[in-house]
Amino acid sequence: MVVNIGDQFARSVVYGRYKIIPLHAEIIEDIGFDYMGSIIWQKKTTMNTTGGANVMGLYPYPPNGMVEIDYEHILIFKKPGKSRKIDKKIKEKSKLSKEEWKEYFSGHWYFAGARQIDHQAMFPEELPRRIIKMFSFVGETVLDPFLGSGTTSKVALELERNAIGYEINEEFLKIINQKMATNRLDMIDKKIEIIKRDNLIVLEDIKYTPRIKDAKPVIEPEKLKFGKDNVYKVIDILEDGKLKLDTGLIVKMRGIVITDIDKTISYLKQYVLKKGVYLKFDKDYIPDKDFVEAYVYLKNRIFINAYLLKSGLATVDMDMDFDLKNKFIKLNKHAKAV
Ligand SMILES: C[S@@+](CC[C@H](N)C(=O)[O-])C[C@H]1O[C@@H](n2cnc3c(N)ncnc32)[C@H](O)[C@@H]1O
Repeated sequence: MVVNIGDQFARSVVYGRYKIIPLHAEIIEDIGFDYMGSIIWQKKTTMNTTGGANVMGLYPYPPNGMVEIDYEHILIFKKPGKSRKIDKKIKEKSKLSKEEWKEYFSGHWYFAGARQIDHQAMFPEELPRRIIKMFSFVGETVLDPFLGSGTTSKVALELERNAIGYEINEEFLKIINQKMATNRLDMIDKKIEIIKRDNLIVLEDIKYTPRIKDAKPVIEPEKLKFGKDNVYKVIDILEDGKLKLDTGLIVKMRGIVITDIDKTISYLKQYVLKKGVYLKFDKDYIPDKDFVEAYVYLKNRIFINAYLLKSGLATVDMDMDFDLKNKFIKLNKHAKAV
């Protein structure tokens, strides 16, 4: 079994902080097959204009540069047990050349990724071509459980193997058919059959808990809808004055420090709880905690953060920068006690 997988770049907007999720390591664990090592598929063969350095982070200063993920892993597994007996003629037909052997079994592969036209995450034909030649004999069957645009099956047929592929998304059928009809396939006597399954297969439950515990969104993306016209309902006022919305999102009022928590909570319970609110965010705001910091407006346009400042229930948060800081400082000067 061979798995092509790239590690994933976790965006802080979703995960709370930037990090790389080592998906390849997760797969290596506990799969029941013997792990036979991996190949690094270097997808970019030329240096980019920054001389190969990635300019993310505080370029050119340490320590927050990010390694460019311009490679993917090809993980190789072997099912324990006896090897199959292969006919001599088939063995001969499946032979790799010396050059192919040297190149394929080296730890690094260098060729570009495929252009993503009709299907995202399409890989170039060179990838399954190498893997199929390395690990299967002519006449054997290659299984691709995630067919996508059908690259693996197409190449398998070209290499005189049989192919079975599964694809959950019916929209790809057109691309798969197109792919099967191109190139050398029409010269090969292969019967292609599309089977549409009507009944759902119910698989046995497997006991599996991902080891990457924090690969879990801090804020689920569906809780965040940054549109102007989204009205949220406030369903709870928390002890520290944060609001809980009907999407589950927790909101702290941006740029203010509540100084009279009891009065603030009673105001919020009276005028904000169960009401619809709009949220506005700083221009470059990226949430990095398990709550968001926002400017909160009632449907009648009353600006809650500003109201709390004007009424003396809160002061300006001078420890941080935010877009409305100057406005808030002015408002605070004219604050009057309620
Ligand atoms: C990364 S793509 C494969 C791309 C393919 N190697 C190619 O070059 O075209 C993964 C595909 O798996 C499909 N998929 C995801 N879950 C599936 C499932 N449970 N059963 C079958 N296909 C699935 C997705 O719809 C997607 O098209």
